[in-house]
Amino acid sequence: MFEAMYARAETGGGKPPWDYGAPRPQLVEWAKARNLAGGGREALVVGCGYGADAEFLVLLGFRTTGFDFAPTAIAGARRKYPASEVNYLVADVMDLPRQWQGNFDLVVESLTVQSMPPEQHSVAVRNIAALVAPEGTLLVLATTREEHSEVKGPPWPLTRAEVEEFSSGDLVMDRLERIENGAWWRAQLSRARDHSA
Ligand SMILES: C[S@@+](CC[C@H](N)C(=O)[O-])C[C@H]1O[C@@H](n2cnc3c(N)ncnc32)[C@H](O)[C@@H]1O
Repeated sequence: MFEAMYARAETGGGKPPWDYGAPRPQLVEWAKARNLAGGGREALVVGCGYGADAEFLVLLGFRTTGFDFAPTAIAGARRKYPASEVNYLVADVMDLPRQWQGNFDLVVESLTVQSMPPEQHSVAVRNIAALVAPEGTLLVLATTREEHSEVKGPPWPLTRAEVEEFSSGDLVMDRLERIENGAWWRAQLSRARDHSA
């Protein structure tokens, strides 16, 4: 579905409805509130689409990777930012490179899990959480759904319990906010330092 939508956009069919054309305000606001500076640390943007969030993180000084499973989105990002320092890659949340595990100081997940069928949510959440490095941070942005409410997706907005699922083991929820008049979740999680190293 996503590849088809990006492909349609290529041939003048209108831009994908989620494409904000700029970094997500909920990410920008979060970054500004903590004077976020990458300082050469590694960031990863999940389901990066045309790359606006990834380009924002590069400007903050992160060495940034952005991935999406739609090849046309990745081709579009590379074309849109020809001089970009972002490493744009085609990859699937459900089958990520093993060497990415524990590798990223900042992982940004915005609206990707909820775009996936509900039966994939738990694995997707686990796979994304596994990417966060020791002392790293995960930012999750999603639209909200009440517990036990039916929804005919896509998308399948996340319940509080689904957002809380990102927290497991030493990846702990620092802050879970309900923003935009209750319409969005913004969750910040962090992984403890690895004491075995
Ligand atoms: C609703 S869009 C959100 C795009 C962007 N993150 C944002 O916030 O605007 C969902 C994105 O996730 C990508 N996506 C969906 N399922 C994926 C998967 N299994 N692996 C990687 N990317 C996926 C889609 O191609 C699409 O670009």
